[in-house]
Amino acid sequence: MRIAIILLALLLSPLTAFGSGGHVSLENARVDLKDKSSLQRGARYFVNYCMGCHSLQYVRYNRVANDLGIPDDELRENLIFGDAKPGDLMTNALRPEDGEKWFGTQIPDLTLVTRWRSPNWVYTYLKSYYTDDSRPYGVNNLVFPQVGMPHALAPLQGEQIPVMASGHEGGHGGAVDPAHVVGVKLVEPGQLTVKEYDRMVRDITNFLTYVGEPSKLQRQSLGLYVLLFLGLLFLIAYAMKKEFWKDVH
Ligand code: HEC
Repeated sequence: MRIAIILLALLLSPLTAFGSGGHVSLENARVDLKDKSSLQRGARYFVNYCMGCHSLQYVRYNRVANDLGIPDDELRENLIFGDAKPGDLMTNALRPEDGEKWFGTQIPDLTLVTRWRSPNWVYTYLKSYYTDDSRPYGVNNLVFPQVGMPHALAPLQGEQIPVMASGHEGGHGGAVDPAHVVGVKLVEPGQLTVKEYDRMVRDITNFLTYVGEPSKLQRQSLGLYVLLFLGLLFLIAYAMKKEFWKDVH
């Protein structure tokens, strides 16, 4: 019995270790891998806004294009910058030590980020930046306190300020103790409305979820074919059974 409990705890532990950012509850990204246009938009946003820093070193451009139904000319025009070829891995020209120099930390490859965090975490993270002048880039993050990444989407989202736990207000623009931040509030809208920004961040999260397990897309459609095949097999078997038993009765 004790072994069973230990095993169960071990099974669940990865979920709890990375599940949420402490006291913050995560928002639902409503990931939908069947939503091809969301995945296509997500791929374009990723290349435009994230790939300057982050690579996706386990996927190739043409695999993504094939899976998401992006035609070759669009792939070359919208997704590939510089002299990369469709068969190349989605890497960038940064070296690990560049990240150390500029951000004080390595820039993680994001191919598997939705698996070591979760889609909901990534979604909430991209919505949870707030102004904190004590940080090198003037921002902090509700689910990733003392984050090294600047707010790459700030011009689109606008400026958010921290909402402090009662009794801890008064950090106006100055040093903020992340332990007492309980929420964020939009004070200066960016180029997108809140709804548009949510959709954009959801598209990026959707795309990163696909990238974390590209074969899931295929598995889902394969599953349908297997079911159809089984259905057909059942009909044939049933017809044969009727045929064989006809003479017996
Ligand atoms: C200017 C460079 C830069 C850009 C642009 C950038 N990031 Fe980052 N990102 C970083 C750095 C540096 C870190 C590491 C932060 C740390 O560990 O403190 C990071 C961390 C992350 C993490 C957390 C990974 C983890 O689990 O530790 C996620 C998720 C992420 N970035 C997503 C994105 C997305 C999505 C975009 C595009 C919208 C983006 N980033 C654009 C530099 C960047």
